[in-house]
Amino acid sequence: MALERTFSIIKPDATKRNLTGAIVKKFEDAGLRVVASKRIQMTLAQAQEFYGVHSERPFFGELCDFMISEPVVVQVLEGEGAIAKNREVMGATNPADAAAGTIRAEFAESVGENSVHGSDAPETAAIEIAYFFSGLELVG
Ligand code: CDP
Ligand code: MG
Repeated sequence: MALERTFSIIKPDATKRNLTGAIVKKFEDAGLRVVASKRIQMTLAQAQEFYGVHSERPFFGELCDFMISEPVVVQVLEGEGAIAKNREVMGATNPADAAAGTIRAEFAESVGENSVHGSDAPETAAIEIAYFFSGLELVG
């Protein structure tokens, strides 16, 4: 398996409840290394562009409002097969369907307020990393 990088967001429901450290521990325990990290307040325009693929879905407005409701922590995670591994550690989108021990099973409040985002493929990982981090922030 190849060494990969993926993009992660610790979402507002989690930062608000002071769960940043608990979530990062899940990543690290799974062998994912945090190689870049910053806490930001997303703008509405950024949230709408980031989730543009979902713009026609009924939950789009609510999702964008949620993503700007509190600061988020954006991160780049590195490891063997990092994209799939992160999705595994996150658990299913709906916490009711998430496997025991996953971040969403333990921490998510609902299908919308589900604590974490993780890239779903190498192409989206590259786009999402570049959207939030400059080359100079990614030297590690
Ligand atoms: O985040 P993930 O890739 O697992 O799911 P997605 O299908 O790409 O949806 C993106 C985000 O939209 C989810 O993480 C939820 O926050 C939100 N969502 C929602 O509010 N209601 C749904 N029925 C599906 C997704
Ligand atoms: Mg997705």
